[in-house]
Amino acid sequence: MPCTVAVVGATGLVGRAMLSILEERNFPAERVLALASRRSVGRSLPFRGGELEVQEACDANFAGVDIALFSAGASPSRELAPMAVARGAVVIDNSSAWRMDPEVPLVVPEVNPEAAFVRPKGIIANPNCSTIQLVVALKPLHDLGRIEHVVVSTYQAASGKGQEAVDDLLAQQRQLAAGQRPVATIFPGPLAGNLLCDWQAGTDDYSEEELKMVNETRKIFGDPRIGVSPTTVRVPVVTGHSESVFVRFARPISALEAKAALRSAPGVSLQEEPYAPGRHPQPIDCCGHDAVFVGRVRDDLAVPGALNLWVVADNLRKGAALNAVQIAELIVARAR
Ligand SMILES: NC(=O)c1ccc[n+]([C@@H]2O[C@H](COP(=O)([O-])OP(=O)(O)OC[C@H]3O[C@@H](n4cnc5c(N)ncnc54)[C@H](OP(=O)(O)O)[C@@H]3O)[C@@H](O)[C@H]2O)c1
Repeated sequence: MPCTVAVVGATGLVGRAMLSILEERNFPAERVLALASRRSVGRSLPFRGGELEVQEACDANFAGVDIALFSAGASPSRELAPMAVARGAVVIDNSSAWRMDPEVPLVVPEVNPEAAFVRPKGIIANPNCSTIQLVVALKPLHDLGRIEHVVVSTYQAASGKGQEAVDDLLAQQRQLAAGQRPVATIFPGPLAGNLLCDWQAGTDDYSEEELKMVNETRKIFGDPRIGVSPTTVRVPVVTGHSESVFVRFARPISALEAKAALRSAPGVSLQEEPYAPGRHPQPIDCCGHDAVFVGRVRDDLAVPGALNLWVVADNLRKGAALNAVQIAELIVARAR
Protein backbone atom coordinates (compact mmCIF):
# COMPACT_ATOMS: atom_id res chain seq x y z
CA MET A 1 0.00 0.00 0.00
CA PRO A 2 1.90 3.12 -1.13
CA CYS A 3 0.97 5.85 1.29
CA THR A 4 1.64 9.40 2.42
CA VAL A 5 3.67 9.76 5.60
CA ALA A 6 4.11 12.94 7.64
CA VAL A 7 7.01 13.28 10.06
CA VAL A 8 6.00 15.84 12.69
CA GLY A 9 9.08 17.24 14.45
CA ALA A 10 11.16 16.39 11.38
CA THR A 11 13.92 18.89 12.25
CA GLY A 12 14.57 17.31 15.67
CA LEU A 13 16.94 14.49 16.60
CA VAL A 14 14.23 11.82 16.49
CA GLY A 15 12.50 13.31 13.42
CA ARG A 16 15.73 13.28 11.41
CA ALA A 17 16.37 9.68 12.52
CA MET A 18 12.82 8.83 11.34
CA LEU A 19 13.55 10.24 7.89
CA SER A 20 16.75 8.26 7.53
CA ILE A 21 15.13 5.05 8.80
CA LEU A 22 12.17 5.44 6.38
CA GLU A 23 14.76 5.76 3.63
CA GLU A 24 17.03 2.91 4.80
CA ARG A 25 14.12 0.48 5.16
CA ASN A 26 12.63 1.51 1.85
CA PHE A 27 9.32 2.26 3.55
CA PRO A 28 6.54 2.19 0.92
CA ALA A 29 5.73 5.91 1.11
CA GLU A 30 5.00 7.60 -2.18
CA ARG A 31 5.01 11.00 -0.46
CA VAL A 32 6.80 12.08 2.71
CA LEU A 33 6.06 15.42 4.40
CA ALA A 34 8.51 17.06 6.81
CA LEU A 35 6.55 19.09 9.37
CA ALA A 36 7.84 21.13 12.30
CA SER A 37 7.11 24.38 14.11
CA ARG A 38 6.59 27.67 12.27
CA ARG A 39 10.24 28.53 13.16
CA SER A 40 11.52 25.91 10.71
CA VAL A 41 9.29 26.61 7.71
CA GLY A 42 11.42 26.85 4.58
CA ARG A 43 14.34 24.80 5.95
CA SER A 44 15.14 21.73 3.92
CA LEU A 45 16.10 18.25 5.03
CA PRO A 46 17.89 15.59 2.98
CA PHE A 47 15.73 12.62 1.90
CA ARG A 48 16.18 9.92 -0.79
CA GLY A 49 18.90 11.87 -2.55
CA GLY A 50 16.79 15.04 -2.73
CA GLU A 51 15.46 17.55 -0.25
CA LEU A 52 12.20 17.92 1.66
CA GLU A 53 11.06 21.45 2.37
CA VAL A 54 9.86 21.81 5.95
CA GLN A 55 6.24 22.92 6.34
CA GLU A 56 4.32 23.96 9.41
CA ALA A 57 2.64 21.22 11.42
CA CYS A 58 -0.97 22.43 11.23
CA ASP A 59 -4.41 21.07 10.43
CA ALA A 60 -4.34 21.86 6.69
CA ASN A 61 -1.04 20.07 6.17
CA PHE A 62 -2.47 16.78 7.44
CA ALA A 63 -4.78 16.54 4.41
CA GLY A 64 -4.14 13.26 2.57
CA VAL A 65 -1.75 11.92 5.23
CA ASP A 66 -2.15 8.19 5.96
CA ILE A 67 0.45 7.79 8.70
CA ALA A 68 1.73 10.63 10.91
CA LEU A 69 4.90 9.93 12.88
CA PHE A 70 4.98 12.47 15.72
CA SER A 71 8.13 13.47 17.62
CA ALA A 72 7.44 17.08 18.54
CA GLY A 73 6.94 16.84 22.31
CA ALA A 74 3.87 16.30 24.47
CA SER A 75 1.98 19.58 24.14
CA PRO A 76 2.20 19.87 20.32
CA SER A 77 1.13 16.25 20.20
CA ARG A 78 -1.93 16.83 22.43
CA GLU A 79 -3.01 19.66 20.13
CA LEU A 80 -2.05 18.29 16.70
CA ALA A 81 -2.51 14.50 16.88
CA PRO A 82 -6.35 14.70 17.02
CA MET A 83 -6.27 16.99 13.94
CA ALA A 84 -4.22 14.44 12.01
CA VAL A 85 -6.61 11.65 13.08
CA ALA A 86 -9.64 13.74 12.02
CA ARG A 87 -8.01 14.06 8.58
CA GLY A 88 -7.82 10.25 8.37
CA ALA A 89 -4.27 9.55 9.52
CA VAL A 90 -3.07 6.89 11.96
CA VAL A 91 -0.85 8.74 14.45
CA ILE A 92 2.22 7.06 15.96
CA ASP A 93 3.37 9.35 18.74
CA ASN A 94 6.76 9.46 20.45
CA SER A 95 5.91 11.84 23.25
CA SER A 96 4.54 11.04 26.69
CA ALA A 97 1.18 12.69 25.83
CA TRP A 98 -0.88 9.57 25.11
CA ARG A 99 1.12 6.66 26.52
CA MET A 100 -1.00 5.93 29.58
CA ASP A 101 -4.36 6.71 27.94
CA PRO A 102 -6.37 3.45 28.23
CA GLU A 103 -7.69 4.03 24.69
CA VAL A 104 -4.20 4.34 23.21
CA PRO A 105 -2.09 1.20 22.73
CA LEU A 106 1.56 1.37 23.79
CA VAL A 107 3.45 -0.75 21.31
CA VAL A 108 6.85 -2.40 20.91
CA PRO A 109 6.61 -4.64 17.82
CA GLU A 110 8.85 -7.37 19.30
CA VAL A 111 6.62 -7.55 22.41
CA ASN A 112 2.95 -6.67 21.75
CA PRO A 113 2.46 -6.07 17.99
CA GLU A 114 -1.25 -6.99 18.05
CA ALA A 115 -2.01 -4.04 20.34
CA ALA A 116 -1.36 -1.70 17.37
CA PHE A 117 -4.62 -2.86 15.79
CA VAL A 118 -6.88 -1.81 18.67
CA ARG A 119 -6.68 1.99 18.61
CA PRO A 120 -10.04 3.62 19.39
CA LYS A 121 -8.52 7.12 19.20
CA GLY A 122 -6.56 6.46 16.00
CA ILE A 123 -3.35 7.01 17.99
CA ILE A 124 -0.63 4.51 18.85
CA ALA A 125 1.98 5.53 21.43
CA ASN A 126 5.67 4.76 21.26
CA PRO A 127 7.04 4.04 24.74
CA ASN A 128 9.80 5.95 26.48
CA CYS A 129 13.29 5.13 25.15
CA SER A 130 14.55 3.54 28.37
CA THR A 131 11.41 1.34 28.56
CA ILE A 132 11.63 0.13 24.95
CA GLN A 133 15.10 -1.39 25.26
CA LEU A 134 14.20 -2.88 28.66
CA VAL A 135 11.06 -4.68 27.43
CA VAL A 136 12.74 -6.01 24.26
CA ALA A 137 15.36 -7.67 26.49
CA LEU A 138 12.80 -8.84 29.08
CA LYS A 139 10.19 -10.29 26.68
CA PRO A 140 11.93 -13.66 26.06
CA LEU A 141 12.68 -13.93 29.77
CA HIS A 142 9.08 -13.16 30.76
CA ASP A 143 7.92 -15.89 28.36
CA LEU A 144 10.37 -18.28 30.04
CA GLY A 145 9.44 -17.77 33.67
CA ARG A 146 7.03 -14.86 34.30
CA ILE A 147 8.95 -11.93 35.70
CA GLU A 148 7.97 -10.90 39.22
CA HIS A 149 10.50 -8.15 39.95
CA VAL A 150 12.92 -6.00 37.93
CA VAL A 151 15.48 -3.65 39.48
CA VAL A 152 16.78 -1.35 36.74
CA SER A 153 19.38 1.42 36.93
CA THR A 154 19.85 3.47 33.77
CA TYR A 155 22.84 5.30 32.31
CA GLN A 156 21.07 7.60 29.84
CA ALA A 157 22.62 9.67 27.05
CA ALA A 158 22.17 13.42 26.57
CA SER A 159 20.42 12.99 23.20
CA GLY A 160 17.44 11.48 25.03
CA LYS A 161 16.60 15.07 25.92
CA GLY A 162 16.82 16.48 22.35
CA GLN A 163 19.21 18.51 20.20
CA GLU A 164 19.62 21.41 22.64
CA ALA A 165 20.70 19.00 25.38
CA VAL A 166 23.37 17.52 23.09
CA ASP A 167 24.62 21.03 22.31
CA ASP A 168 24.73 21.77 26.04
CA LEU A 169 26.80 18.64 26.78
CA LEU A 170 29.27 19.36 23.95
CA ALA A 171 29.75 22.97 25.12
CA GLN A 172 30.26 21.76 28.70
CA GLN A 173 32.86 19.22 27.53
CA ARG A 174 34.81 22.03 25.82
CA GLN A 175 34.69 24.08 29.02
CA LEU A 176 35.86 21.10 31.07
CA ALA A 177 38.76 20.47 28.64
CA ALA A 178 39.75 24.14 29.04
CA GLY A 179 39.98 23.63 32.80
CA GLN A 180 36.73 25.50 33.60
CA ARG A 181 33.76 24.28 35.64
CA PRO A 182 31.03 23.48 33.05
CA VAL A 183 28.08 25.87 32.96
CA ALA A 184 24.81 24.15 32.06
CA THR A 185 22.24 25.81 29.80
CA ILE A 186 19.67 23.00 29.39
CA PHE A 187 20.55 20.47 32.09
CA PRO A 188 19.92 21.52 35.68
CA GLY A 189 23.66 21.29 36.45
CA PRO A 190 26.98 20.14 34.95
CA LEU A 191 26.81 16.88 32.99
CA ALA A 192 30.36 16.90 31.53
CA GLY A 193 32.57 15.04 34.00
CA ASN A 194 29.48 14.34 36.07
CA LEU A 195 26.27 12.29 36.50
CA LEU A 196 22.83 13.84 36.92
CA CYS A 197 19.25 12.96 37.75
CA ASP A 198 17.75 15.71 35.58
CA TRP A 199 14.12 14.63 35.02
CA GLN A 200 11.12 16.42 36.49
CA ALA A 201 9.85 15.24 39.86
CA GLY A 202 7.14 12.59 39.78
CA THR A 203 5.55 11.31 42.99
CA ASP A 204 6.95 9.62 46.12
CA ASP A 205 10.44 11.05 45.47
CA TYR A 206 10.72 9.29 42.10
CA SER A 207 11.39 11.19 38.87
CA GLU A 208 8.83 11.19 36.05
CA GLU A 209 11.27 9.07 33.98
CA GLU A 210 11.41 6.42 36.72
CA LEU A 211 7.62 6.27 36.98
CA LYS A 212 7.35 5.95 33.19
CA MET A 213 9.53 2.82 33.36
CA VAL A 214 7.22 1.30 36.00
CA ASN A 215 3.88 2.11 34.35
CA GLU A 216 4.88 1.58 30.72
CA THR A 217 6.54 -1.81 31.40
CA ARG A 218 3.32 -3.05 33.03
CA LYS A 219 1.13 -1.69 30.26
CA ILE A 220 3.23 -3.19 27.43
CA PHE A 221 3.31 -6.64 29.06
CA GLY A 222 -0.34 -6.30 30.11
CA ASP A 223 0.74 -7.47 33.55
CA PRO A 224 0.21 -5.06 36.47
CA ARG A 225 1.83 -7.56 38.86
CA ILE A 226 5.36 -6.95 37.52
CA GLY A 227 7.32 -5.03 40.17
CA VAL A 228 9.73 -2.45 38.74
CA SER A 229 12.26 -0.63 40.96
CA PRO A 230 13.92 2.04 38.78
CA THR A 231 16.72 4.58 39.21
CA THR A 232 17.35 6.76 36.15
CA VAL A 233 20.64 8.62 35.73
CA ARG A 234 21.99 10.84 32.92
CA VAL A 235 25.61 10.19 31.90
CA PRO A 236 27.93 12.32 29.72
CA VAL A 237 27.39 10.17 26.60
CA VAL A 238 25.89 11.74 23.45
CA THR A 239 23.83 8.75 22.23
CA GLY A 240 23.16 5.23 23.56
CA HIS A 241 21.35 4.36 26.77
CA SER A 242 22.70 1.58 29.02
CA GLU A 243 20.87 -0.30 31.75
CA SER A 244 21.90 -2.57 34.59
CA VAL A 245 19.01 -4.97 35.16
CA PHE A 246 18.25 -7.48 37.96
CA VAL A 247 15.35 -9.87 37.26
CA ARG A 248 13.55 -12.28 39.59
CA PHE A 249 11.03 -14.79 38.22
CA ALA A 250 8.05 -16.86 39.37
CA ARG A 251 10.33 -19.92 38.93
CA PRO A 252 14.16 -20.14 39.04
CA ILE A 253 15.77 -19.26 35.70
CA SER A 254 19.48 -19.91 35.05
CA ALA A 255 21.79 -17.71 33.01
CA LEU A 256 22.18 -20.69 30.65
CA GLU A 257 18.41 -20.87 29.99
CA ALA A 258 18.16 -17.12 29.67
CA LYS A 259 20.95 -16.98 27.07
CA ALA A 260 19.27 -19.72 25.02
CA ALA A 261 16.05 -17.65 24.95
CA LEU A 262 17.81 -14.34 24.26
CA ARG A 263 19.90 -15.85 21.44
CA SER A 264 16.85 -16.22 19.19
CA ALA A 265 14.78 -13.30 20.49
CA PRO A 266 13.64 -10.78 17.87
CA GLY A 267 15.46 -7.46 18.06
CA VAL A 268 18.09 -8.73 20.51
CA SER A 269 21.80 -9.08 19.83
CA LEU A 270 23.29 -11.27 22.55
CA GLN A 271 26.93 -10.93 23.52
CA GLU A 272 27.94 -14.19 25.20
CA GLU A 273 31.63 -13.76 25.86
CA PRO A 274 32.62 -14.38 29.47
CA TYR A 275 33.46 -11.28 31.48
CA ALA A 276 36.65 -9.51 30.46
CA PRO A 277 37.57 -5.84 30.95
CA GLY A 278 36.04 -3.67 28.24
CA ARG A 279 34.26 -6.62 26.54
CA HIS A 280 30.59 -5.78 26.99
CA PRO A 281 27.96 -3.90 24.96
CA GLN A 282 28.87 -0.21 24.94
CA PRO A 283 27.02 2.89 23.69
CA ILE A 284 29.93 3.88 21.46
CA ASP A 285 29.55 0.61 19.48
CA CYS A 286 25.76 0.26 19.63
CA CYS A 287 25.03 3.77 18.38
CA GLY A 288 23.72 3.71 14.79
CA HIS A 289 22.56 0.09 15.09
CA ASP A 290 19.01 -1.27 15.36
CA ALA A 291 19.38 -4.08 17.88
CA VAL A 292 19.01 -4.06 21.63
CA PHE A 293 22.41 -5.36 22.76
CA VAL A 294 22.33 -7.67 25.79
CA GLY A 295 25.45 -8.86 27.57
CA ARG A 296 26.80 -9.86 30.98
CA VAL A 297 23.92 -12.30 31.51
CA ARG A 298 24.77 -13.94 34.83
CA ASP A 299 23.19 -15.79 37.76
CA ASP A 300 22.62 -13.53 40.75
CA LEU A 301 24.97 -14.36 43.62
CA ALA A 302 22.50 -13.64 46.42
CA VAL A 303 19.07 -14.58 45.03
CA PRO A 304 18.96 -18.14 43.62
CA GLY A 305 17.20 -18.35 40.23
CA ALA A 306 17.46 -14.60 39.59
CA LEU A 307 19.60 -12.94 36.91
CA ASN A 308 21.62 -9.82 36.17
CA LEU A 309 22.09 -8.37 32.67
CA TRP A 310 23.44 -5.34 30.89
CA VAL A 311 21.33 -3.78 28.12
CA VAL A 312 22.42 -1.11 25.62
CA ALA A 313 20.57 0.45 22.66
CA ASP A 314 20.58 3.54 20.46
CA ASN A 315 17.92 5.73 22.09
CA LEU A 316 17.26 7.66 18.87
CA ARG A 317 16.75 4.50 16.81
CA LYS A 318 15.20 1.55 18.72
CA GLY A 319 14.37 3.90 21.60
CA ALA A 320 12.33 6.19 19.35
CA ALA A 321 12.44 6.47 15.54
CA LEU A 322 12.97 2.83 14.58
CA ASN A 323 10.25 1.58 16.94
CA ALA A 324 7.81 4.10 15.41
CA VAL A 325 8.70 3.08 11.84
CA GLN A 326 8.35 -0.62 12.75
CA ILE A 327 4.83 0.13 14.03
CA ALA A 328 4.08 1.94 10.75
CA GLU A 329 5.31 -1.16 8.89
CA LEU A 330 2.82 -3.30 10.86
CA ILE A 331 -0.01 -0.96 9.86
CA VAL A 332 0.97 -0.96 6.19
CA ALA A 333 1.43 -4.76 6.11
CA ARG A 334 -2.06 -5.29 7.60
CA ALA A 335 -3.61 -2.86 5.08
CA ARG A 336 -2.23 -4.80 2.09
N1 LIG B 1 15.58 11.85 21.93
C1 LIG B 1 15.19 10.64 22.28
O1 LIG B 1 16.01 9.72 22.52
C2 LIG B 1 13.73 10.35 22.43
C3 LIG B 1 13.34 9.04 22.71
C4 LIG B 1 11.98 8.75 22.84
C5 LIG B 1 11.06 9.76 22.71
N2 LIG B 1 11.46 11.04 22.44
C6 LIG B 1 10.44 12.08 22.31
O2 LIG B 1 10.42 12.55 20.97
C7 LIG B 1 10.09 13.93 20.95
C8 LIG B 1 11.15 14.72 20.18
O3 LIG B 1 12.41 14.51 20.78
P1 LIG B 1 13.77 15.04 20.10
O4 LIG B 1 14.84 14.43 20.91
O5 LIG B 1 13.76 14.81 18.63
O6 LIG B 1 13.67 16.63 20.39
P2 LIG B 1 14.34 17.85 19.59
O7 LIG B 1 15.62 17.46 18.97
O8 LIG B 1 14.33 18.96 20.58
O9 LIG B 1 13.26 18.15 18.42
C9 LIG B 1 11.98 18.66 18.70
C10 LIG B 1 11.18 18.71 17.42
O10 LIG B 1 9.84 19.10 17.75
C11 LIG B 1 9.47 20.20 16.90
N3 LIG B 1 8.50 21.06 17.57
C12 LIG B 1 8.63 21.70 18.75
N4 LIG B 1 7.51 22.41 19.03
C13 LIG B 1 6.65 22.21 17.99
C14 LIG B 1 5.35 22.67 17.67
N5 LIG B 1 4.68 23.48 18.49
N6 LIG B 1 4.79 22.26 16.52
C15 LIG B 1 5.45 21.42 15.68
N7 LIG B 1 6.69 20.96 15.92
C16 LIG B 1 7.29 21.35 17.07
C17 LIG B 1 10.78 20.91 16.66
O11 LIG B 1 10.63 21.76 15.53
P3 LIG B 1 11.51 23.11 15.37
O12 LIG B 1 12.87 22.67 14.92
O13 LIG B 1 10.75 23.85 14.34
O14 LIG B 1 11.53 23.76 16.72
C18 LIG B 1 11.70 19.73 16.42
O15 LIG B 1 11.51 19.24 15.12
C19 LIG B 1 9.90 14.34 22.41
O16 LIG B 1 8.54 14.22 22.74
C20 LIG B 1 10.70 13.31 23.16
O17 LIG B 1 10.25 13.13 24.48
C21 LIG B 1 12.77 11.35 22.30
